[in-house]
Amino acid sequence: MSLDLSIQLAPRNKHGLLLANPVMTASGTFGYGTEYSQLFDIQKLGAIVCKGTTLEAREGNAQPRLVETASGLLNAIGLQNIGVKALIKEKAPVWADWRVPVIVNIAGESVDDYAQLAKELEGVSGVSGIEVNISCPNIKAGGAAFGANPDTAAKVTAAVRAATTLPVLVKLTPNTDDIVRVVTAVTEAGADAVSLINTLKGMAIDINNRRPVLGNITGGFSGPAIKPVALSMVYEVAGAVDVPVIGCGGITSASDAIEFIMAGASAVQVGSATFTNPRASLDVLEGIEQFMEKEGIKSLSEIIGAGRK
Ligand SMILES: Cc1cc2nc3c(=O)[nH]c(=O)nc-3n(C[C@H](O)[C@H](O)[C@H](O)COP(=O)(O)O)c2cc1C
Repeated sequence: MSLDLSIQLAPRNKHGLLLANPVMTASGTFGYGTEYSQLFDIQKLGAIVCKGTTLEAREGNAQPRLVETASGLLNAIGLQNIGVKALIKEKAPVWADWRVPVIVNIAGESVDDYAQLAKELEGVSGVSGIEVNISCPNIKAGGAAFGANPDTAAKVTAAVRAATTLPVLVKLTPNTDDIVRVVTAVTEAGADAVSLINTLKGMAIDINNRRPVLGNITGGFSGPAIKPVALSMVYEVAGAVDVPVIGCGGITSASDAIEFIMAGASAVQVGSATFTNPRASLDVLEGIEQFMEKEGIKSLSEIIGAGRK
């Protein structure tokens, strides 16, 4: 049976963002894609989202920056990255030869930073879209502080929208009291699609030395434990806006991904699962294909939102 897993993530955008299938990698968990191209055929994925990128290169937070807890991963990387200029010079030319679209995740400390990043990326061959990270819990300024509030979230989105013709995805934080208001604000400000969720704020304490384990004290919590939280937010958001919703949070298997799709997500991102199984994203894709064959589903569109009441 021939299956149609393709999905258009930016139907309102003049370039569009057509994915061959709905499985993407989550920012910060798949480097620049190049690191994994030796391990499996990454060109089979729907899209790759690269590490959060800032105007200048960043060293990130003090160590330790990653800790495994009994229920999931805590990270406080603090957006260590090579900076947008190096990305354009060293990474984009590699991506330009790839079949799989690459989306650049951007982060800033001011509205202006985001606009400038978007401007720099405009017209760069190899860059198919921008994911605006207004949801990082691990930096002192900007990040989740923008995404928690509908007004600031809209300001950042509008500034990026004005600075680029590329498809704009906005990545949202679960650390807000009203996700639907934030989502409505960013879609009205010009987001082509929304990705959710980023990590939940969390921490761990080392009882022997009586100190927080992470150098940054708190970090972002991810992995299977956050899936029910992410799923309910995707369900809520997909019922409230008419732009494509990208589900992320605790996806480790095809059935996890299908739950998100049935909740209303048009695509999914695989994050922390890649750390235990580097080809987790491809396994998820192959599992979705097997499910569709078994159930006689020809097109992904038949199951998007199928689990909604
Ligand atoms: C080590 C690490 C680094 C991350 N870096 C970024 C980042 O740079 N930008 C971003 O938007 N999200 C970042 N995230 C969040 C993930 O993209 C994803 O939203 C989150 O981990 C939830 O998905 P998961 O449970 O599948 O990991 C990072 C997550 C981890 C674990």
